[in-house]
Amino acid sequence: MLEKQLSQAITFKDNIFHLRSGGSSLLMQVTKSGYLAHLYYGHILPEGSYRMEAFTPPIGSASFAPNTPKEDELLSLSTALLEYPTYGTGDFRPSAIEATGKDGTAAVDLRYRSHKILSGKPPIPGLPATYAAESEADTLEILMEDAHTGLLVTLCYTAFRDCPVITRSVRAENQGDAPVVLERIYSCCADFPTSDYDLVHLWGSWAMERTIERTPLGHGGRRISSTRGSSGHFHNPFAALLGKEAGEETGEAFGFSLVYSGSFSIETEVDFLGQTRLLCGLNPDGFGWTLAPGERFDTPETVMVYSDTGLGGMSRCFHKLYMNHLIRGPWRDRDRPILINNWEATYFEFDEQKLLDIARAAAPLGIDMLVMDDGWFGHRNDDHSSLGDWYVHKGKLPRGLGELSDQLHALGMKMGIWFEPEMISPDSDLYRAHPDWALQIPGREISPARWQYVLDMSRKDVQDYLFERLSSILNSAKIEYVKWDFNRNLTEVGSALLPPERQKEVGHRYMLGLYSLLERLLTAFPELLLEGCSGGGGRFDPGMLYYSPQIWTSDDTDPIERLMIQAGTSVVYPPSTMSAHVSASPNHQTGRVNSLHTRGIVAMGGSFGYELDISTLSDEEKEEIARQVKEYRACAGIIRNGDYYRLISTPDVYAWETAAADRSTVLVSCCVIHTRVQQTLIVKLRGLDENAWYHDPESGNIYSGGMLMHAGLNLSALGLRDRDAVMIRLEKI
Ligand code: GLA
Repeated sequence: MLEKQLSQAITFKDNIFHLRSGGSSLLMQVTKSGYLAHLYYGHILPEGSYRMEAFTPPIGSASFAPNTPKEDELLSLSTALLEYPTYGTGDFRPSAIEATGKDGTAAVDLRYRSHKILSGKPPIPGLPATYAAESEADTLEILMEDAHTGLLVTLCYTAFRDCPVITRSVRAENQGDAPVVLERIYSCCADFPTSDYDLVHLWGSWAMERTIERTPLGHGGRRISSTRGSSGHFHNPFAALLGKEAGEETGEAFGFSLVYSGSFSIETEVDFLGQTRLLCGLNPDGFGWTLAPGERFDTPETVMVYSDTGLGGMSRCFHKLYMNHLIRGPWRDRDRPILINNWEATYFEFDEQKLLDIARAAAPLGIDMLVMDDGWFGHRNDDHSSLGDWYVHKGKLPRGLGELSDQLHALGMKMGIWFEPEMISPDSDLYRAHPDWALQIPGREISPARWQYVLDMSRKDVQDYLFERLSSILNSAKIEYVKWDFNRNLTEVGSALLPPERQKEVGHRYMLGLYSLLERLLTAFPELLLEGCSGGGGRFDPGMLYYSPQIWTSDDTDPIERLMIQAGTSVVYPPSTMSAHVSASPNHQTGRVNSLHTRGIVAMGGSFGYELDISTLSDEEKEEIARQVKEYRACAGIIRNGDYYRLISTPDVYAWETAAADRSTVLVSCCVIHTRVQQTLIVKLRGLDENAWYHDPESGNIYSGGMLMHAGLNLSALGLRDRDAVMIRLEKI
């Protein structure tokens, strides 16, 4: 087990692994009997400074605490902090793995066999994951074995060198002589010696996604999860443990984000000693995976971020990681097109003429692209039909997509198109031809939702059909962008092609099928910009970001509602990933009236666009739109690449800042929801160069960086009223 130090970031000495990543350290120890005990995760510890007793269980011989073999007489799995706890052999807390072998029992007992340290980061076959060059990260793979079943489990840890990020995933291989059924297999476990934390997570619903909630941990279990076959609107696949004293910019935060778009689970448990366990990965509910001898299974990846600058520091770390090591393709590093989408402008009632009217009004204002939303295919005039029939609706577009695209390009605009590939309408030629292509359980009715069923994406023939249809549409015209929607969740999750003992695999096989199709499409159309969507932000997760660098944040386009939604989304996801549109006033979801100015400023908090019938606006409004487009274009690079700070997030006021990486330009935005008469409004900025001077070209004012950060920018004089907003650009002198 003694292995020489192979890389700086990961060492193995005296049976202790020490992973150092940016400012964080993770330490674990192989015990005498081969268990992998967790020692420490948190602020970086200098190499060699670790003098903790080799492994001290809190109460190894307490009542009702079974001991492990004699080599580890002080160790009780029921109380020890562990790296990857197993079910059924003495740890009674929620376990990371449970697997049924040929004797029908589900116990697992994993012991250390060997390990490898590699430079860089190997991909996870078939799954989205963060990536890193050899010089950017180091990977530790620890091989564990359950001798009873022959199950090999490899715990994979990648430590990024320049940021406090450690990723975790798990590989299971059956080296036994009989099938093993994985009943649960989490990507990661993080044990903490105390419960002095609050749990932060992002809950929501349709049109109200990713609301920040912070609650104390209590004894017993808590679960943030989805069983929807999608990450869902209701809980994001993310949780953080925040030190009691931690806040937006101070104190410790431990963030866990799952790179996956299907059913997930993040469980926390505080045991009787007050220790905390957090498990993150695939949802065990309804899951099962048969590993025949020789077969292998890979879990999705959990990204762990350590921050000692509060939730904000954690967010900025996730932003940088996801911008530079998750999002791929040419659009990663490009400003995104400013688009106009026709959904809220026309809903299903449009034709070529109407779209061109909108485009003709939008093009002179500088808008880059028209996105044709739902309703261009089959005989779709409402949401009751045609999903799956990806052929042009001749009634609406008699001259076809090529003609529309030519007309748009002649106006200097790009073209985008909406698809909902994973769905099938019962009223569709596709369903009539292939009723077995829908997810279903023979003998049970399929539950419709929005009058549609879900295609069985685990099937290769379904994937091939979709690839052929989508490719053929994308080849039939110049189409630069696809909005990939998903408007219901999975029910009756069964596949006609799999045997009974593999039906519990369908949910995960669905995701593998979806990811494979997305990969195939992006390989065939490498320049394509994909925008993810699911009834707004119902599948806003790192898994989808691997394929689509931006996602429609919410079907709620009211800027006041969006303040909270965008602030919540920014806890994990970079601003450039949040599609944000200026829509009509009164707003279609809330009826609220907001100025075009406020709508613009809030939408500039993400990847900017419009979603209203621009052809019916007054000349004055069009002039304002032209100004907004110009303004956004001038700061798009900063919004995409800059450091993002949530400055104020209260029911009355929201303020946020983006500072260019070199601190040369700072954008400060503020929106007042509820004016308090005769109250001062001071916004303290972050991340500036304290000793530099900053100039506001609009007002001519000059401020020192230190003053802006410590005394703050006093916005009281602007007299902002209810739902007024302002964006101030400060330039370093
Ligand atoms: C979903 C999307 C909307 C729109 C409609 C079309 O709800 O979130 O933006 O595309 O579908 O049916």
